[in-house]
Amino acid sequence: MINYAEKIYGRNREVAEIYKLFAAGRDVSMHGPRRLGKTFLLDRVVDAADGRGFNAIKVELAGCTDTRAVFRELCSRLGSRRSGRQRAADWFKQRLGQVAAPRSDQDGPWYQPFLNLDHETHFERLLQALHEDQENQWALLIDELPIFLKALHDKGPEGLADARNFMNWTSRVRAAYPRVRWLITGSIGIEPLARTGEYMAVLAKYKPFELHPLILDEAIALVKDLASNGHLPNRNEITDAEARAIASAVGWLAPFYLDALAQQLSGTPAEDEAVAVQRVEEAATRLLDPSHSATFGTWEEHLRKHYRDPECGIAFSALAILAEQSQGTRVDTLLAAIGRQDLTGEALRTLLVRLHFDGFLIVSNWDGELPTAAFRNPLLRRWWKRFCPQAQA
Ligand SMILES: Nc1ncnc2c1ncn2[C@@H]1O[C@H](COP(=O)(O)OP(=O)(O)OP(=O)(O)O)[C@@H](O)[C@H]1O
Ligand SMILES: [Mg+2]
Repeated sequence: MINYAEKIYGRNREVAEIYKLFAAGRDVSMHGPRRLGKTFLLDRVVDAADGRGFNAIKVELAGCTDTRAVFRELCSRLGSRRSGRQRAADWFKQRLGQVAAPRSDQDGPWYQPFLNLDHETHFERLLQALHEDQENQWALLIDELPIFLKALHDKGPEGLADARNFMNWTSRVRAAYPRVRWLITGSIGIEPLARTGEYMAVLAKYKPFELHPLILDEAIALVKDLASNGHLPNRNEITDAEARAIASAVGWLAPFYLDALAQQLSGTPAEDEAVAVQRVEEAATRLLDPSHSATFGTWEEHLRKHYRDPECGIAFSALAILAEQSQGTRVDTLLAAIGRQDLTGEALRTLLVRLHFDGFLIVSNWDGELPTAAFRNPLLRRWWKRFCPQAQA
């Protein structure tokens, strides 16, 4: 087990910032591109909770399609925690049991009776219990909230109303039980959902927290540790020169891509810069092999799943053009190259902003005369150029 609290890449600064916000009574919303390390950060917030007088639990909503499932997920994560001297499950059972008087001889987990009865009332009572817990302060770290909301939206008008009701409900319980801290996160844009579902006002109450990629020194330390901790198939050492070359090839320093490229490194460790660059280039070539398509395929899938036509088709056209240019392409040139009569400069701009927030692109000089768009992740650009994914799979 790696003790991330001692590692410069362990997101300890971010953990401290989040607890500072919690201590100031703020709830946090952290949204960011795929693979940036959001879930990793939630795990570190959980690890650090004890030392900060908190009980933090991570609740993963990706598989939930209704509020009952959200409640079940929360209960299942709570089960093994402690509140004071008692196991949280027993403590909650006592508090909730006064109302529900569940039979103890039932099969299934401790929270089963509460799911079968009026789960919304119990959900709220549970939050009340967390709020009133004198021994601990609780923090709920909600991962992949937008995926859950999207699953509701996809059910049609009723689902959309459910999403809005759920979000309004969270606002109400946050106000009613203010000792409980909330952190919401997810990899797909929550704002477009909130706009469609008309719950932007709910989001506005969270303090936005921007998670950045690693900085160079952190990236170097991470890849060197991957080797020395035995996480790489062909290496137990990576030199400084190689670590730098990996960071340079990855460009967007998300741990996931640093790891993916380091996994491909082979040959004897090279101190010489030119040799190191060559080794890393060979590793990148292996990483771009079709056998590693899952490493990048999530991005293609993201567009197909979350962008609707005509946006989806235009996004694929734009990315195909941008993939050809490592230095990026001027937005006016891109508009002409896409060549669709029905595409206005304004609509392209809106789409590029979304692709920017979702981590595909960086658009520089937005306010200048000649804004330029480029892939954010140079490896993803190469993958896109090589496999040229189309809107229709
Ligand atoms: N700071 C870090 N140090 C070491 N490993 C990390 C770090 N951050 C992330 N990772 C690893 O990188 C991978 C991707 O991170 P993570 O799952 O947290 O990203 P994410 O932003 O939640 O992605 P997604 O949007 O796809 O859910 C995981 O295997 C994770 O353990
Ligand atoms: Mg995640």
